[in-house]
Amino acid sequence: FQPKSLAGRRVLITAGPTFEPIDPVRGITNLSSGKMGYAVARAAREAGAEVLLVSGPTALPAPHGVRRIDVQSARQMLDAVMANLKGQHVFIGVAAVADWRVANASEQKMKKTEGGAPPVLEFAQNEDILATVAATTSVSGWPYCVGFAAESENLLGYGAGKREKKGIPLLVGNIGHHTFGQDDNTIILFDEHGHTVLPRADKLTLARQLVLEIAKRIEHSALL
Ligand code: C5P
Repeated sequence: FQPKSLAGRRVLITAGPTFEPIDPVRGITNLSSGKMGYAVARAAREAGAEVLLVSGPTALPAPHGVRRIDVQSARQMLDAVMANLKGQHVFIGVAAVADWRVANASEQKMKKTEGGAPPVLEFAQNEDILATVAATTSVSGWPYCVGFAAESENLLGYGAGKREKKGIPLLVGNIGHHTFGQDDNTIILFDEHGHTVLPRADKLTLARQLVLEIAKRIEHSALL
């Protein structure tokens, strides 16, 4: 473990779930705990990077030395990321961003009706934050974009395809129901050469390995 492999680099990380409001007191979210994203933020900071963490709602404290912006919805996460993207060398999308938001969210708390008819929610698709960031890299080559993918099956098959679809150099695959909320994880790195398995370990150990892998891949790129 080389402690300062990201010295001089600025790293932007998304973590946690998003929360998509239904009304002022209700919403739709997912089981992401934020542990993996926070571990990556801590590992990047330990490696000497200046780290900005854009986080959905989690119970976790910001890692030491890491600046955090708290958001709730996917749209707020996108806005916070785009507003802080300039000058970043690395973008790592670890957040479990909701694919859909509620298009007909109510401004007031929804009430039960006399007749008992339940509300009908309509959905709109959220923008893909990672793909949006990746689309900006064509100009300067920065930021180097890293995505995460949680699949419940056929990870080897889906991983390589997802990396290409998102237009990113590095995709980290993990098995969704084996990782959400857990302290341990198994991850597979997909890059243009193929895939590498990082065997099951605690999330901080894996995060440190991932940070080293990212550092290796950008070490010959000039600083901004
Ligand atoms: O397509 P899928 O949701 O499986 O891709 C997961 C990756 O894309 C993660 O890195 C996640 O943070 C990112 N993502 C995103 N914005 C979305 C959906 C996913 O940044 N709306």
